Amino acid sequence: MGISEEDLARVREATDLVALVGLHTALRRQGRRWVGLCPFHAEKSPSFSVNAEEGLYYCFGCKASGDAITFVRDTEHLDFADAVERLAARAGITIERQTGLGAPEQHWRQRLFDAMAEAVEFYHQRMLFSPDAARAREYLRSRGYDGDIVRKFKLGWAPSDWDALSSAVRWPERLLKDTGLGMVNKIGRKQDFFRARVIFPIFDPAGRAVALGGRILPEPGQLTRPSPFSSEPKYRNSPETPIYSKRRVLYGLNWAKDEAARLDEIIVCEGYTDAIAFYQAGMARAVATCGTTLTEDHVKLLSRHAHRLILAYDADPAGQRAIEQYYTWEHRYELDVRVADLPSGMDPAEVALKDREALSNAVSKAKTLLGYRVDRILGASAQKGELAYAEGRARAGELALRAVAEHPSDLVRDQYVMMIADRCRIEPERLRALLARLRASSASIALGSASSRQASQHRLQEPQDGGLLEPSPGVRATLRKDSRITEQQGAIVSDKAGPGGRRDLKAPSRPGLEALRLAVHRPDLAAGRLEWVLFSDPVQRRAFQALAGANNLHQAISAADAEAADLLLMVAAEPDEVVPDAEGVIAHLVREATRRALAELSVAARLASSDEERTSIAREDAWARLMLEELAPDGTSPAAVAEAADHLLAWLLRREEDR
Ligand code: UTP
Ligand code: MN
Repeated sequence: MGISEEDLARVREATDLVALVGLHTALRRQGRRWVGLCPFHAEKSPSFSVNAEEGLYYCFGCKASGDAITFVRDTEHLDFADAVERLAARAGITIERQTGLGAPEQHWRQRLFDAMAEAVEFYHQRMLFSPDAARAREYLRSRGYDGDIVRKFKLGWAPSDWDALSSAVRWPERLLKDTGLGMVNKIGRKQDFFRARVIFPIFDPAGRAVALGGRILPEPGQLTRPSPFSSEPKYRNSPETPIYSKRRVLYGLNWAKDEAARLDEIIVCEGYTDAIAFYQAGMARAVATCGTTLTEDHVKLLSRHAHRLILAYDADPAGQRAIEQYYTWEHRYELDVRVADLPSGMDPAEVALKDREALSNAVSKAKTLLGYRVDRILGASAQKGELAYAEGRARAGELALRAVAEHPSDLVRDQYVMMIADRCRIEPERLRALLARLRASSASIALGSASSRQASQHRLQEPQDGGLLEPSPGVRATLRKDSRITEQQGAIVSDKAGPGGRRDLKAPSRPGLEALRLAVHRPDLAAGRLEWVLFSDPVQRRAFQALAGANNLHQAISAADAEAADLLLMVAAEPDEVVPDAEGVIAHLVREATRRALAELSVAARLASSDEERTSIAREDAWARLMLEELAPDGTSPAAVAEAADHLLAWLLRREEDR
C-alpha cells in the first residue's frame, strides 16, 4: 500500500511539526530548534529536539526520530498510511492511496466501516435500553460488568428475531453480506448473522469497528457456563470480510495501545472477557485473539506497540504451538515473551472475578518462557514427591532439560543447567553432556524430516551449534552489551560469526560526524568539497551517500538504510550551535583519509614487484606528504589549505576509482 512521494511531500509541507508535537509536549525555542520533554519516554530534562524548517525530530535520550508522519504513527499507533491520512485530513488535503484498489473499492471499504459502526450502535442501544435484553443485562451484571464497562466496550445485544438488524438498517444485500452481518436466505428474505447473542464489537487500532463476536446466554440458573447440551457454539465470530481478517486483528488493541506503549508491555489472552477482566483489574493493556491461536501477523503488530508480551492463557502456551516459534519471534521482533502464572485451569476472567490482585500479581511476576516451563516441570515433580529420591530427581532433571534443549541461546541454557543441577542434585557436567546429546539428536531429526520446518529453520540459525563446538560462554559474553536487545543481537552476531568472529567495535569518527553536520546544515559550503571516500565509518559513509544522491534531506532519509537514516535524523535535529567550521572540518577529514592512503601506499611499496612500480609509489607518496604539509592547521593561507584539500580529495577519489 503506497502513497506517492508528491502526496507525502505535500502532507509534510502542510503540517506544522512544532504545533503537532506541541499537542503532546511543551516545546521551547532554543537557537534554531525547538526542545522539550520527549513524548516517547519518561525523562526529567528535555532531550527531544525539533527541526521546524525540515520538519524532523530526534530524541537524544531514546533515539526516537522521524517526521510528522512517523510522529502521528507512533503517538497514535496507526499504520503509516493511516497516519498520512490523518495528517492530510487535518490539513484539508486529499491524497490518493495506491492500494491496488481503485477508487470504487476504497469507497466500498468506507461503506463497510460505516455499516459496521451503524450495527455496533444498533446492538449497543438494544443492550442498554431494550426490554428484550433484560436477561442479557442480568448476565453482564453477574459477570461483574457495570454500565461503564458496557459503554466502554460498546457491548451489545442481538435480539433473537431472524432479522432485527437487517430490517432496521435496510442495507442492500451486498452490504449485508460483505459486512458479514447477514444474508439473504433461500426464500429471498434477509436474515441476521448474530441472533440472541451478547455482542462484543471488535475494532481496528484506529478505533473503527471491523467485526463482532457474539456469545450465547447461559441457560437460566447456570450463569457462567453454557449448557453442554446446546448445539450452538458458545461464541460466534464474524466471518472474514474485506475489512476483517482474524489472523491480523486483535480484540482490544484500540483501548490497550496507550498503556501498552507507556509501559512497553502488552498482555495477550484468549477471550474477549479476559481482555475486559484485565481492564477491570486496572490493566488497560490486554488484547485477545478472536478464536484463533496467535499468528506471526499478530506478533508483528504487537511488536509495534510494546516489546514485552505477557501471555495470559489458561493453559500452558506450549500446548498451543511449538515453543520454538516463540523463541524465533523473540529474536525476529526483538521481543521479550513472558508467561503469566495463572492458577492452573483458570482463565484471567475467572481469576479476576475471585481476586483482582491475584491477576495483577500473575502479570507482574510473569516468567520467561523457559523459566515458566522449567518451574512447571520441576513443580509437578516436587508435588508428586519425586524430588525426594534419586530416580525421581533424575527423571525430573531430564524432563526439565528437554525443555532447556529447545532454547536457542547457550548462555541461557547453561544458567538453567546450573539451576536444574542444583534442584535435582545432579552434577552440572552430567547435565551438560546430556544436553549436548539432546540437541544433537533433535538437530538430526530436524534435518531428516521435511515436515518439521520450524525445527530446521531454528537449526539454520545456528549452523555449528553442537554443544562442544560452540565458542565458550565467556567469549560470547564479551561480544554482548548489557541490554536485553543487544544481548539477543549479540547472540545472532556471534552465531553467524562463528568462534573466531569479532564485531567492529571502533567508535564512529568524530570529524566524519562534523562533516555530515556540514552536509546537512550547510550544503552550500559542503558542495563539491566532500566525497564519500573521506568517510571511514561505514554508517557515516552510507548516510553521506544517501545525502549526495538525493535532492533533499527527506529523500535522503527515505533512501538510506535504517542506521544511516537514523544518523541523518539525529544530525538534522541537533541544536544549530554545532554547525562546524567548514574549512576546518574538510581539512581534518582529508588529512585523516590521506594518512590512511599513505599507510596503504607503504604496504604497497613493500609488496611492489618491480623497481618501476616502487618508484611510482614513492613519487605519489612524496607528493601526498607535501600536500599534507600544506594542509597543516598552522601552515599557509586559508586559500592554500583549501586548494591542497581539493587536490588531495581528487587524488583520493582517483585512487578509489582505480581499485
Ligand atoms: P473461552 O471458551 O475460553 O471463552 O474461549 P471465554 O472468553 O472464557 O468466555 P466466557 O468467559 O465463558 O464467556 C476463548 C475465546 O475463544 C473463542 C472466542 O474468541 C473466545 O473469546 N471461541 C470460544 C470461539 O470463537 N468459539 C467458541 O465456541 C468458543
Ligand atoms: Mn476462557
